[in-house]
Amino acid sequence: MNAVAESAEYTIDRALVLEFVRVTEAAAIAASRQIGRGDENAADAAAVEAMRSALDEMSIHGRVVIGEGERDNAPMLYLGEEVGCAREAGPDIDIAVDPLEGTTLTAKGGSNALSVLAAAGRDCLLNAPDIYMEKIAVGPGYPAGIVGLGREPEDNVRALAEAKGVKPSELMICVLDRPRHGDLVSRLRALGCGIHLISDGDIAGVIATTQPDTGIDMYMGSGGAPEGVLAAAALRCIGGQFEGRLIYRNEDDRRKARSCEIEDLDRIYKIDELARGDCIFTATGVTSGSMLGGVSRRRSPDGSNVVTTHSVVMRASTRTVRWIRSDYRHS
Ligand code: FBP
Repeated sequence: MNAVAESAEYTIDRALVLEFVRVTEAAAIAASRQIGRGDENAADAAAVEAMRSALDEMSIHGRVVIGEGERDNAPMLYLGEEVGCAREAGPDIDIAVDPLEGTTLTAKGGSNALSVLAAAGRDCLLNAPDIYMEKIAVGPGYPAGIVGLGREPEDNVRALAEAKGVKPSELMICVLDRPRHGDLVSRLRALGCGIHLISDGDIAGVIATTQPDTGIDMYMGSGGAPEGVLAAAALRCIGGQFEGRLIYRNEDDRRKARSCEIEDLDRIYKIDELARGDCIFTATGVTSGSMLGGVSRRRSPDGSNVVTTHSVVMRASTRTVRWIRSDYRHS
């Protein structure tokens, strides 16, 4: 039996924290060569391949629980794939990845594309189906349960405004810019709220609620369920509240949820049901955004080529948040 953990009591070896940053750095650097090239698939494939090979250099027995989809449809980082070079010795770690969060953003040269990874002990990350999830998130410092998916948007806005000591019209809500959010946006506008519409990238949108500089108070609306688990892992580390509920557009979505062994299809997941126990979250900017700078390249006076990345890595058990700038030099 490897040196870990089916349980929420497991603490991830702190030495792995920086190792995981190398993984998202590698994926972001690979994807960055495709910025603005108009080819979403090429950008995604570059990130996937680089992430897969960086993971295989880690001394872990990793298992992908959120990745590129079913084995039949994904050559790498498919669900259940084992990664790492210590498959006998462990530690046993479950890994959720989004090698390129914001494929369209990257292809179009837009802001806020990230490479993202979360890691936790065995069975500590929800094996979320690739369907939509309704999400709500606020940053740290509010009473537990201040907002929730069981309440109307207006009630959540009023409760948050009261807790913050401001009027609803002084709140800024982040929402993905999608036709399906038309009703939500109208209801928020009727309260006078500011709405920060994002074209893609709701992991960054959720994390923005934890960063006062962004001015964003709350995240609302639906996006990918896998992205919901990754965002919840980040908030477990940095603080804040998050709830998620799967959305089913058709019978196939329900089948996907059942195949992930989800029994209560209408459950509202609390943050620690999405990411339990100790977990690590790391993200590296591909293109510059509200949270992280993007990958940049320059030629240094000594003739070497320098590739610079900006990453954040956080750990739930210690609540440590590290912002890391790395310069890679190539002759
Ligand atoms: P991709 O990188 O896979 O394109 O996802 C980007 C994203 O904006 C996510 O952040 C979000 O959760 C999801 O797509 C929303 O899905 P949709 O574009 O179908 O509304």
